[in-house]
Amino acid sequence: MTDTRPDGAGPDGAEPRGIARGLTSYGDAGFSLFLRGAYARGAGLTPEDLARPIIGIAQTWSEFNPCHRHLREVADAVKRGVLQAGALPLEFPTISLGEIYLSPTSMLFRNLMAMDTEEMILGQPMDGVVLLGGCDKTLPAQLMAAASADRPAIVVTAGPMLTGHHEGARLGACTDCRRFWGEHRAGTLDAARLEAVQGELFPSAGTCMVMGTASTMAALTEALGLTIPGMAAVPAPLARRLRLAEAAGRRIVEMVREDLRPSKILTRAAFENAVRVLMAIGGSTNAVVHLPAIAGRAGVPLDLDDFDRAARATPLLANVRPSGAYHMEDLAEAGGIPAVMKVLRPLLNLDALTALGEPLGAVLDGVPEPGAWQDAIRPLDRPLKPEGGLAILRGTLAPDGAVLKVSAATPALLAHRGRACVFRDLDDLAARVDDPALAVTPDSVLVLQNAGPVGGPGMPEAGSLPIPKKLLAAGVRDMVRISDARMSGTAGGTVVLHVAPEAAVGGPLALVRDGDEIILDAAARRLDLLVPEAELARRRAAWRRPEPPVRRGYRRLFVERVLQAPEGCDFDFLR
Ligand code: FES
Repeated sequence: MTDTRPDGAGPDGAEPRGIARGLTSYGDAGFSLFLRGAYARGAGLTPEDLARPIIGIAQTWSEFNPCHRHLREVADAVKRGVLQAGALPLEFPTISLGEIYLSPTSMLFRNLMAMDTEEMILGQPMDGVVLLGGCDKTLPAQLMAAASADRPAIVVTAGPMLTGHHEGARLGACTDCRRFWGEHRAGTLDAARLEAVQGELFPSAGTCMVMGTASTMAALTEALGLTIPGMAAVPAPLARRLRLAEAAGRRIVEMVREDLRPSKILTRAAFENAVRVLMAIGGSTNAVVHLPAIAGRAGVPLDLDDFDRAARATPLLANVRPSGAYHMEDLAEAGGIPAVMKVLRPLLNLDALTALGEPLGAVLDGVPEPGAWQDAIRPLDRPLKPEGGLAILRGTLAPDGAVLKVSAATPALLAHRGRACVFRDLDDLAARVDDPALAVTPDSVLVLQNAGPVGGPGMPEAGSLPIPKKLLAAGVRDMVRISDARMSGTAGGTVVLHVAPEAAVGGPLALVRDGDEIILDAAARRLDLLVPEAELARRRAAWRRPEPPVRRGYRRLFVERVLQAPEGCDFDFLR
């Protein structure tokens, strides 16, 4: 504290650092600094502590977020690294979004967490930040915040759970949550066995251990260059994760000294790499919302065509559920995301700068090729599928685009013509989907309206509509399903998502009626509603915007200012 001026600036008038950064406004900078020092001493800190750079650790441990229940131990490891490198670690809480505990959907709160995290990075005196996150929306929110705050930042992901076991089979959450629940609904799994499965689906701390949204976003955080390499796939309970966390603690101190900020890492080249990796891992459709949101914060253009181009030119390499056969711990054993990127190397921008301060190419030079003994990462000449996992569809039903996870769909349904069975919202779906009188056949196309960013609100993960019970009982396990909602990255099926514009703002999805013919042609990237334009015009004239589902507070802000899915569902005033 002695080498700062009373106004908190450094001796040469440079931007204040450490404890002197961003003083509280009392109209007397000297008093502000004096008072802050007094309170810091009250916390047991010494002048020696306060002379160091300060590293904030954004903590998302919460008893409402079981995926993060080990993050206090992880924070301790980060602190060891920060102290080793000569800085002062100070942990602070932010909002934590536990996917399964939040109502109506965690996505409603992603932007709130991003705002919270950004403002706490900027509002508190820290020179750099380590972001601890993992469960689906936490990493996107933290990356959005880091891009906007643009203070040196590195991410320590929570890591996936270990797999569970049941009757000799390995269990992966939540691909198996859905599969076993579907069997229970179909009457092929009784309540006692379902209860036994429930106890094994989440056997350890960590995030869902298939290539769901959490694993996908961890992989993409690594692909963007914002982690220590190898961070994404290592299971949460392993000691290796603590060693990686400690390394991140050391590295963030160097990043502060190098002034290595997210704006130098989150470039167009980095986002192109992330989109490539998304396709190569068969990642979650949710990334098609989150990456544009993060890019929007970084001022990098990224649209749906970027995803489709990459999908057509990137083979599916990661043999991980729900698109493949293995789990995240197998991917980690095979070398993790660095090994995937090593195989993908000819398709990546190798000059993209990483948090290590080195370009990606130099980082990959030190990564071994995945061994021939493993099958979790395929070589380029023997991919799981020749094209990436996702397809961007357009057509009269989705003029601004829609997303289909081809890798997890039923091949026979990828070219399909069927009649619509329409549910006007989630309540209607819940009330009627199992009605024995529902006019539906295996060839029908299930359509859900008003479950998008505004209509949901918050674009819930309701796009994987349940198969009607009477069809389940007849052995049907997949149908073409279309909505403006999202889908869990752990789910599968022939599910068209993120239809834009959404129904609640008057997109064509709002005009679909029972019995209308719909054509899905994934190879041609088309999604069309076969209704004459004159009839659509008549329906459009009669359409009334639904009453906003919320009237006050943050939820009102959300429905008034949220952007559509292709723009990442960020708020218009935050991009
Ligand atoms: Fe947290 Fe799946 S519920 S990662």
